[in-house]
Amino acid sequence: MMRTISLSALCCIFLTGILASCTPDDPPPIVIGGDGPVQDTTLISVTELPSLRIPEDNPLTVAGVDLGRHLFYDKIMSGDQSMACATCHHQEKAFSDGLRVSAGIHGDSGTRNAMVIFNLMWTDSLFWDSRAGTLRQLATMPIENPVEMDARVPDVLQRLNASAMYRKKFYDAFQTDTILEVHLSKALEQFLLTITSDNSKFDKFNRGELQLTPSEARGFEILKVKGCFNCHSTSLMHDNISHNTGLDKFPQDQGLGDFTHNSKDDFKFKTPSLRNIMVTSPYMHDGRFRTIEEVIHFYESDVQFTSRNITADLMQIAPRNKLTTQDMTDVKAFLNALTDENLLTNKKFSDPF
Ligand code: HEC
Ligand code: HEC
Repeated sequence: MMRTISLSALCCIFLTGILASCTPDDPPPIVIGGDGPVQDTTLISVTELPSLRIPEDNPLTVAGVDLGRHLFYDKIMSGDQSMACATCHHQEKAFSDGLRVSAGIHGDSGTRNAMVIFNLMWTDSLFWDSRAGTLRQLATMPIENPVEMDARVPDVLQRLNASAMYRKKFYDAFQTDTILEVHLSKALEQFLLTITSDNSKFDKFNRGELQLTPSEARGFEILKVKGCFNCHSTSLMHDNISHNTGLDKFPQDQGLGDFTHNSKDDFKFKTPSLRNIMVTSPYMHDGRFRTIEEVIHFYESDVQFTSRNITADLMQIAPRNKLTTQDMTDVKAFLNALTDENLLTNKKFSDPF
């Protein structure tokens, strides 16, 4: 019998959090670069997480999620059976891999930084260039990517069909005797949908469970004044939009434009979430920055305003006063408060083997 995870049980997990909405219109309470007064927490308003978005034709089941988790951690999925999804997506790094760009089974480097995996239920498009619309579409792409797992899906299916363990697991999840690509994709989709993050110190603060330290709260206000939350916005801490942030005057990677073939989309990349940011270095689509200091320095001093298709919002950030050493300490304290230990250690997301 198929056991469906009840919506109310999921609601308990997903909808208890209330998170900060970062309205850019709030009066700035501090002067960056000076000895501004410590934050006034009444300025931090709160909103709720988005409601659940689960595909109607793929309800989450205990058997389906368990199967997806096994597949995610199993090297059976790659060409030479040396690499799993988890080889490049480490739970303790919010499912990024700590490398500038990832390397595939033949040791070849790709051109992009491994992305974090959490709260993808609310992400409108996937990959840095948005070329996948749903997790189900995405699921087989890394398997077939020559600089990643370099396998053929039919070969992987053959291996799975030859495994008594997987035949049972697929039967339990989808009542099928023959494992097809759609089942593989749906199982991975189910597992990936369960990976959520809403239990950082900042979330607990927003739920009224604890206080931020003055340094953390001041760091939050600084980023608010800087306009960072214009794009790293909402409870997801991203806007589900792609931007050219002016990393280069003449960018190499076309990003979204390569996928849409619309020159207005050239050099745009999906805004990443700031959640768990302190454990996901290096940063940007090509992993060019190793530290948060380097990222902040870029936004303050290095934005290439003549880069084609640059997002106008960036103009607001650069001309402001530079952060002092104390400001930087406070910003880092706030960013640390965005780390969700539950995501990094929860056994439900860990290697089941
Ligand atoms: C060789 C390393 C590597 C392997 C193996 C790998 N990934 Fe990834 N993953 C990446 C990289 C790099 C990106 C960003 C790629 C891009 O944008 O072009 C990414 C992006 C993603 C994303 C997009 C997240 C978002 O916010 O858009 C998801 C989901 C994902 N991978 C899941 C998986 C799954 C599932 C597997 C196994 C079937 C897998 N990955 C295997 C390196 C890897
Ligand atoms: C115009 C929208 C926008 C604004 C404003 C903005 N960002 Fe970003 N941010 C992005 C996008 C898009 C990326 C990804 C760029 C890329 O890789 O090409 C990004 C990347 C980042 C990253 C790297 C994340 C990762 O996982 O690699 C950090 C950290 C970051 N921004 C912090 C900030 C801070 C701090 C501010 C304020 C000073 C800020 N951002 C302002 C859109 C924005």
